[in-house]
Amino acid sequence: MKEHIQQLLEQTVSQLKAQDVIPAELAPRVQVDRTRDKSHGDLATNLAMMLAKPAKKNPRELAQLLIDNLPASELVAKAEIAGPGFINFFLDSSWLGKQIEAVADSERANIKPVTAPQTIVTDYSAPNVAKEMAVHHIRSTVIGDSVTRTLEFLGHKVVRANHIGDWGTQFGMLIAYLEKMENDSAADMDLSDLEAFYREAKKCYDEDEEFALRARGYVVKLQGGDEFCRTMWKKLVDITMAQNQAIYDRLNVSLTEENVMGESLYNPLLPEVVADLTEQGLAVEDDGATVVFLDEYKGKDGNPMGVIIRKRDGGFLYTTTDIAAAKYRKDTFNAERILYFIDSRQAQHLQQAWLIARKAGYIDDNTTTEHCAFGMMLGKDGKPFKTRSGGTVKLADLLEEAHQRAIKLIGDKNPDLQGAELDNIATTVAMASVKYSDLSKNRTTDYVFDWDNMLTFEGNTAPYMLYAYSRIQSIFRKAGVTAAELDGNIVLEHDKEEALAQKLAQLNDAVHGVANKGMPHLMCTYLFELAGAFMSFYEACPINKDGVSAEAKASRLRLCLATANTLKVGLNLLGINTLERM
Ligand code: ARG
Repeated sequence: MKEHIQQLLEQTVSQLKAQDVIPAELAPRVQVDRTRDKSHGDLATNLAMMLAKPAKKNPRELAQLLIDNLPASELVAKAEIAGPGFINFFLDSSWLGKQIEAVADSERANIKPVTAPQTIVTDYSAPNVAKEMAVHHIRSTVIGDSVTRTLEFLGHKVVRANHIGDWGTQFGMLIAYLEKMENDSAADMDLSDLEAFYREAKKCYDEDEEFALRARGYVVKLQGGDEFCRTMWKKLVDITMAQNQAIYDRLNVSLTEENVMGESLYNPLLPEVVADLTEQGLAVEDDGATVVFLDEYKGKDGNPMGVIIRKRDGGFLYTTTDIAAAKYRKDTFNAERILYFIDSRQAQHLQQAWLIARKAGYIDDNTTTEHCAFGMMLGKDGKPFKTRSGGTVKLADLLEEAHQRAIKLIGDKNPDLQGAELDNIATTVAMASVKYSDLSKNRTTDYVFDWDNMLTFEGNTAPYMLYAYSRIQSIFRKAGVTAAELDGNIVLEHDKEEALAQKLAQLNDAVHGVANKGMPHLMCTYLFELAGAFMSFYEACPINKDGVSAEAKASRLRLCLATANTLKVGLNLLGINTLERM
């Protein structure tokens, strides 16, 4: 609707240019906003005030000219001048009713794919091999997955890149330890506890001279493609990723093995990249290492900061890999956007890698690189989220606890539910709650992980959203109708019906907001407001009660259906499944 009014105004501006009212060289950005107060209509623009000065007209006079030249539209019931020269638009509710009928009839809630789809790479999740997924990985995983789903829904071609940490000198030690384990107790080798595995490997490395020597040898052999080392390395990757895949599946995250593009993928490209950067004069030898000096970053002494891309011992760095990855994503997929869902503390690392990749011409102005940064996950005490004893919280344990808590929450609310049905519902509620509590916060700030705030029916939570959806399903059951049978016209008579319809028409803004900014909380905020508008509507406008006319009932049921479709589409884009009952 906003876009429609914008278009009308743009046409009007051209019209007034043709009449020489507005200077032809002006190209104003037409801004249309929602009004705060219904008495000012639904949408408003300050266009007349912006153009008044260059057009040498009084703003109210220009506003009147704009209104007089506005093309006729079935959408606009009335346009009027307000205050110093605003134009307020009152939308026609019968037009709005028709729009909402289309939402009710469509599984996509009437959201159209974009006309110019792009190729977009999303770099997210990126856990490390031989480590449990840590808390910051759940943030990257669920935020990245939600944005990925949204972009795909809009018709973009999305390449998921799971940039796992599967390369580096630590693999010498890990291979040596895996070998030791296999020799010691081949039969009952237990790798389920990767944290313990890593810890033990490190201990051997630090305490056993001979082990350390072997480990260092393996680093070189692995680099050289030695078969034994490659096989052991692959085993470590597979075991880790099998565990992570179980977590993805449980969380309903759309990543699979096929999306793994780990650091090792870029390793063979690194010598070429370093050679090329050197040849281009961007990188120089400095005390045996290869360094790119960036004027854009000054050190304390005021001199350009050096980014090491190859160490003195010949080893490459995390940044070198990200330079190569950017190049690869451009060369291989011709990516137009590359979105990185990474901790905000890695901002400088990314900016530097991209700057170098741009200077070298690996990516150009046709490709944007966007850091979708997020803050830390904190405990209730405001400190980084840890176990009671100060250790890392294992994601798998966290999900299990969520499940137990969800069983209690749902069981208390609905004692009739039992056994497998209760368990199924609890699974959905638990995963939805953990994800939603993360997704609903503006990702740029730190957020406090708090069980009590996420597993509750009060406020902007998953249980509240899922409940709103299932409540609509129970309205249909009570009315004895199915979605497919609903075909009455939507007539917006009551204020609350109109308010709900207005909210329903804003899904498109929310979807595009998430796609453009990489911020799923925009969707959560929208859905929460929608659920609120629905609850107010349902309180004010009875459906399954005596005395409600057949037309009103049919209209309201269809409004319910449009709401259900919208909630479902929105929640699915967050990676959350809806429930028919709970
Ligand atoms: N594996 C890294 C970590 O655990 C995250 C990698 C993010 N992606 C990237 N292209 N650097 O912190």
